Amino acid sequence: MVTVRNIVVLTGAGISAESGLATFRGPGGLWEGHRVEDICTPEALDRDEALVLGFYDARRRGLAHVAPNAAHRALAKLEAEWPGKLLIVTQNVDDLHERAGSRRLIHMHGELLSALCRVCGEHTAFAGDMIGGTVCPSCSARDRLRPDIVFFGEMPYEMEPIEQALIACDLFVSIGTSGAVYPAAGFVQIANATNAWTLELNLDRSAGSHHFDDARYGAASQLVPEWVDSVLAMA
Ligand code: OAD
Repeated sequence: MVTVRNIVVLTGAGISAESGLATFRGPGGLWEGHRVEDICTPEALDRDEALVLGFYDARRRGLAHVAPNAAHRALAKLEAEWPGKLLIVTQNVDDLHERAGSRRLIHMHGELLSALCRVCGEHTAFAGDMIGGTVCPSCSARDRLRPDIVFFGEMPYEMEPIEQALIACDLFVSIGTSGAVYPAAGFVQIANATNAWTLELNLDRSAGSHHFDDARYGAASQLVPEWVDSVLAMA
């Protein structure tokens, strides 16, 4: 085990599962019979805009009915108390990390509470529904806002600072992600290449579990607070 100063945490849908948000894969991971890969694409938005906007309107509305769980809160506590560096990179588009108190956070797959204008390219805070009409607050274009979500085939956000943090970290922890979607699924290999210690915390083995130095399996609401306490004990 190396001396730890710089930590990068990657989170996925599993960290929000116990808050009541469905994961993408596995039981309950379908949305009205659609695979997420079939509707979260630029082509699907062109082909059936109402389907795609409706999918994200429903998820945005769902945020009002969920709250951060013990795992989100533990990561916020780590950020507040850890004397070294900590960056949370989340694949999640919910706002549960922020509501728990995390601030050094990158939403690499976008955010439900943001809109992207297809005319001027501005990202703006957005609440409510897109179905029924939108006006871009920046360029006033009508009905050209889309969910600020990185669709399949699009480049995830802020890859450069993420890669820099991965190269500089000495502990990489992956929480609640299946390891099915790149580039996030490859972060463990970037961290390994620079000799960081790598740890997986997940309900079950992910697709890339063999890349990790260590792993603990169980519910995030239990594993993450335990792990945070153990890290803070060695600070
Ligand atoms: P997945 O649905 O693929 O995987 C969720 C993982 O969380 C699985 O490995 C589960 O075993 C685990 N899990 C479920 N409940 C858990 C719990 N209570 N505690 C700990 N782990 C638990 O979700 P992601 O890996 O996040 O992309 O999916 C990656 C991307 O695929 C998403 O960001 C999304 C999706 O398509 C976009 O929308 C662009």
